[in-house]
Amino acid sequence: MKRLFAVLCLTLLAGCGQREAASEAEPGAVSEPAVKVARQQDPAQIQRGLQIYEQNCAACHGAAGKGLLGDWRLRGPDGKFPPPPLDDSAHAWHHPTAVLKRMIAQGSPGGSGNMPAWQGRLSEGQIDDVVAYIQSLWSDKIYAVWSDIEQRSLQN
Ligand code: HEC
Repeated sequence: MKRLFAVLCLTLLAGCGQREAASEAEPGAVSEPAVKVARQQDPAQIQRGLQIYEQNCAACHGAAGKGLLGDWRLRGPDGKFPPPPLDDSAHAWHHPTAVLKRMIAQGSPGGSGNMPAWQGRLSEGQIDDVVAYIQSLWSDKIYAVWSDIEQRSLQN
């Protein structure tokens, strides 16, 4: 268990010091925080999400979530924001899973962009799959930072 924890520490640098201190106090609790920051490890779900992504999302968000050419921060000639990358180069990772799911289900808020609403076209399970795929595009470091954002959102 100690070795597993050390390996997780290497990959998930953020917040490790605190976890180490906690584990010294209560050795039995080591695996719990480690599990909370463990990456989405279901390759089958990620694979399903990839297929949904390629069919429905890649045309706007680019292959592997890398975005399209041009600056996604600037409004286009129609006054609307272009699709941002969904990998860790933009800000998709600032949002907890619930917010990502809502954005995908409801589309662009208030007509700020041309993101269609996917509710009714994708099932909730398919939206979960595509979110898992998007999260798989983030580096370990960004995933760990996102994981803290996720945990805080679940406590509120
Ligand atoms: C027609 C183009 C288009 C398609 C197709 C599209 N999107 Fe988007 N998406 C956008 C735009 C434009 C935005 C920016 C929204 C805004 O500012 O209003 C966006 C925003 C998002 C965001 C929020 C990103 C952030 O950084 O806050 C997520 C998540 C997202 N899209 C996921 C998806 C997924 C998943 C699919 C496929 C199921 C998809 N999009 C399909 C255009 C598209």
